[in-house]
Amino acid sequence: MTDLFPPAKLGHVAANMVAGDAAHRVLSEQDFAQARAEIMQWDGYCATPLVSLPALAAKIGVGEILYKDEGPRFGLGSFKALGGSYAAQRVLQREVSKAVGQDVSLEDIRLGAYKDECAKITLVSATDGNHGRSLAWGCQRFGAPCRIYIHAEVSEGRAQAMRDLGANVVRITGDYDASVLLAKKEAEDNGWFVVSDTSWPGYSEPPRDVMSGYGVMTQEICEALTQAPTHVFLQGGVGGLAAGVVAGIRQYWGENGPRVVIVEPKLAACLFESARVGKAVNFAIVDETLMAGLSCGEPSGMAWEILVQEASDFLTIPENIVAPAVRLMARPLDSDPVVEAGESAIAGLAALVAARMEDDLSGQWA
Ligand SMILES: Cc1ncc(COP(=O)(O)O)c(C=O)c1O
Repeated sequence: MTDLFPPAKLGHVAANMVAGDAAHRVLSEQDFAQARAEIMQWDGYCATPLVSLPALAAKIGVGEILYKDEGPRFGLGSFKALGGSYAAQRVLQREVSKAVGQDVSLEDIRLGAYKDECAKITLVSATDGNHGRSLAWGCQRFGAPCRIYIHAEVSEGRAQAMRDLGANVVRITGDYDASVLLAKKEAEDNGWFVVSDTSWPGYSEPPRDVMSGYGVMTQEICEALTQAPTHVFLQGGVGGLAAGVVAGIRQYWGENGPRVVIVEPKLAACLFESARVGKAVNFAIVDETLMAGLSCGEPSGMAWEILVQEASDFLTIPENIVAPAVRLMARPLDSDPVVEAGESAIAGLAALVAARMEDDLSGQWA
């Protein structure tokens, strides 16, 4: 259909055509409303652009393409500013409340009313870089010490970006899983608090807050539209972003909602694999994908609970369309605007363009 990309074979699992109750049960309207009310008060808050790409839409034969550009979000260059930092603020709210023996509000934490108490609460996480940067940013904002564990393969540039935000960065010799274990152990031993974007049995509050924070993005998109889009493409790593956004979409549009398509690299397809076998499973990553932010082998349990009910389709994309998709944003067709987008951010757009080239997928979605 188009000459934009080389031939690309997508993986596809059709999931639910009827939404379940997870969008209301796992994350509530109240969770989103509270996060939104707070984040909109943060210094520097403003809605990020929803960019229209009419020339690309015409080229692939669809009515309209809108791309949510999270680049300008709080100057952090990442949608994760909404989740990790909000989760950090919520941990501080809960822990300061316990320390002072009375209910403390998010506003109190934001305005520094309990500065001394916050300075005594250390927040920690293991990271490949992105979540850690947002946590470091949140800790800097709210005055809490931050300790970040990175594995041997994390670049020095990423480590420095977190140090620049005030984090104490600890590099280990092992892999990502070893950094997660060490973060948990040292937190237990020292009375620190893990702020992870992935949930596991017995650990769900911060991941719920992370996903609630992402609801800000969804609300901005929904409010900018006069009718529901037909399809929404969301990239997936551990699934937190995708689950947070799909829950908000289902809450907002109800029965008349879009088809929500989850997109992952073929090389790191833990959500796709889980959808294929019908339960959350790990995916053994052998070769690293260019989409480094999506290189996750283990779904977040809580995100999976939402996605298994609320996602319409799971797709995988091959590596050979990543660079063409990044280029398409940097050097767009005709008068479409330039969007600065990285390899992980373009996964959904790459999947859409590639799907329009594949007759069987495109036909199913007509
Ligand atoms: C641009 C981008 N999109 C998506 C993700 C994945 O988000 P999640 O792990 O919440 O699914 C990442 C993770 O770092 C990312 O950098």
